Amino acid sequence: MLDRLGEVMQGLVLVAGEGTRLRPLTFTTPKPLIPVMGKPLVEYILEGLKESGITNICLVIGYLGNLFKTVLGDGSRIGVELSYVVQCERLGIAHAIHRAIEDCVIREEFVVHLGDNYFEEGISRFVKRFQEGDYDVFIVLTRYRDPRRFGYVLLQDGKVVRLIEKPIEPPPGGYTLTGLYMFRDPDLVEKAFRELKPSQRGEYEITDLIQWFIDKGYNVGYDITNGWWKDTGTPDDMLELVNMMLDKIETRTDGEVRGKIIGRVIVEKDAIIDGEVYGPAYIGEGAYIDKKAKIEHYVDVEANCEITSGQISRSLILPEARIETNNARIIDSIIGRKAEIKLNTGQYKIISGDFTIIYNY
Ligand code: G1P
Repeated sequence: MLDRLGEVMQGLVLVAGEGTRLRPLTFTTPKPLIPVMGKPLVEYILEGLKESGITNICLVIGYLGNLFKTVLGDGSRIGVELSYVVQCERLGIAHAIHRAIEDCVIREEFVVHLGDNYFEEGISRFVKRFQEGDYDVFIVLTRYRDPRRFGYVLLQDGKVVRLIEKPIEPPPGGYTLTGLYMFRDPDLVEKAFRELKPSQRGEYEITDLIQWFIDKGYNVGYDITNGWWKDTGTPDDMLELVNMMLDKIETRTDGEVRGKIIGRVIVEKDAIIDGEVYGPAYIGEGAYIDKKAKIEHYVDVEANCEITSGQISRSLILPEARIETNNARIIDSIIGRKAEIKLNTGQYKIISGDFTIIYNY
């Protein structure tokens, strides 16, 4: 059994990335700050860490980093203690971890949570296994439909033997590596980092960092997710996350329903529904659904949106967007904050940025 370095486990949340595959949305809002059902994604992560007893949390920021400070501040609103470290160059996950150790912010055993990952079952079960076990490193695995998209992990006789980053031809039988990693000793992580070389994509890969521990004979443990797991890299991933979260909601009405709601719908306070909403759906605080508007299944309308007409299906509508689509239907779309969309007829898939204007005269 290793000597414990300290009593308190620390959290490290990596949010420095540019989220290029979610442009144009990420031109103005970093991916972890995009809201889903009333809160930015990163807040679900902070709450998950808190639930597992981790309240001392460092955010590694970079791209649009100050926005995190504005939204999350010192973390007291969420009941955690936040500090920030800046990663100026985006050189990969292992490099981001190294930045926090180098700045002496991480000094104890710690858990790393990528800022765009979501675990349906939460993370407490994994954190507990790591804390109660004798592991130097602990990783969380899942089965994903396309194993070429992420880190890939091969097991043999119940042990982790090999990690490959985005394999072109994944050998059968392996698992996908999620964005949750736990480490016992920051000094050892730093030592491993010093021996890493950047990959072909020019990044210090988390898979190479963990492989170092395996090659040196350290104890690398793992567990497999029970529920679904989501990396929200692309608009389709984001919409899948919305679907999955909406699938679990129970009806709650804190706003005013003067029209019709059918199925499971959350209506937040100060929201007004004059039209029709078919669940599962989420209607955010202060949002307005006019009588000529129909919100169909799997739609998340965030705070203070105004939907004056038309139909919306399987979409995420970000705060303060205004939609007037008459006889048109918006489907599988993400509409940016404060965007204005006016359409007449037809069916549209739109991935718009914040403040986008689309008018069909
Ligand atoms: C990163 C890691 C990959 C891991 C994934 C989980 O990939 O490099 O090993 O499976 O996160 O979300 P990225 O999303 O940066 O391409």
